[in-house]
Amino acid sequence: MEYQRRTNSSDLITRAYLDSLLVEMRHLDAVIPSTELQLFGKTFATPVMTGALSHLNKSWPDGMTEWARGAAQAGAVAWSGMGPREELERMVDTGASVIKIIKTYADRESIYDKIRHAESCGALAVGLDIDHAFNRRLGYDEIDGMAMYPLSQAELTDMVRSTKLPFVIKGVLSRQDARKCVEAGVKGMVVSHHNGRLECAVPPLMILPEILEEAAGQAEVFVDCSLESGMDVFKALALGASAVSVGRPLLHRLKEKGAEGVKEEIERITADLRYSMAMTCSHDIRSIDRSVVRMGSFVW
Ligand SMILES: Cc1cc2nc3c(=O)[nH]c(=O)nc-3n(C[C@H](O)[C@H](O)[C@H](O)COP(=O)(O)O)c2cc1C
Repeated sequence: MEYQRRTNSSDLITRAYLDSLLVEMRHLDAVIPSTELQLFGKTFATPVMTGALSHLNKSWPDGMTEWARGAAQAGAVAWSGMGPREELERMVDTGASVIKIIKTYADRESIYDKIRHAESCGALAVGLDIDHAFNRRLGYDEIDGMAMYPLSQAELTDMVRSTKLPFVIKGVLSRQDARKCVEAGVKGMVVSHHNGRLECAVPPLMILPEILEEAAGQAEVFVDCSLESGMDVFKALALGASAVSVGRPLLHRLKEKGAEGVKEEIERITADLRYSMAMTCSHDIRSIDRSVVRMGSFVW
């Protein structure tokens, strides 16, 4: 089964940007590196996390549960996109540490309800993807019969305060949103264009340094979109990401083998990351020297 990598201009541009980044080799004082991730008070084997996907029953029976089980077996964080309460409960029951991402439903009370539910069933963190409010006919989007509405910074601040869980915003692709998120008390941001929600979107790694400046150590900064190898992950970590999410490449493996496929793919990418770290004298994921990455020529 062929994995469809590039489906829109933003995917293409993001891939080209990733490939334009070049890496030095550093061998003296090198060691076998650790890929351990410390996140929100827990330790994980890898910074390679599953993407915040949804609707995976089309790909495998009870696909979201398998998604989480594969992550748990690989010692990775599992992310969940939209979906019913029982689905999240089944994901948590696999033993996975789950980050639940909720849509910006126009019915704001349903968002609070889902935040409370994530907290009560033991999610690692909770948050929203803020980039799915509009459709291309320039109306407010509607997904699974639920109307969406854009979020204000004031509403975000109130939602962050409503829960004890770390709050994460997915779909940050500007300095402005990053600043507003940090002011609202957000503890994590995913730098993402969400599969090209906007064409010609800035590649996440291009804008990552600016988002990190705004985060100023007060929020974890994650990256997703088009990451498919250990070298891609290495570049994201070297440029300062805390961890990354991988969506479609893991989905491709879920379709083949369920949880086992997800686990194998996370482990394959992590092994490839470990090799890249060893070859650049990077001892652990927090101490990769940014100057090991150089800009080549970026053409798309
Ligand atoms: C089948 C599918 C379902 C998705 N559902 C959601 C969702 O419910 N919430 C969300 O924030 N992102 C969702 N996404 C977007 C992913 O989280 C991610 O941002 C995107 O796929 C880019 O990462 P990738 O290139 O690694 O796939 C979905 C993506 C796919 C392919």
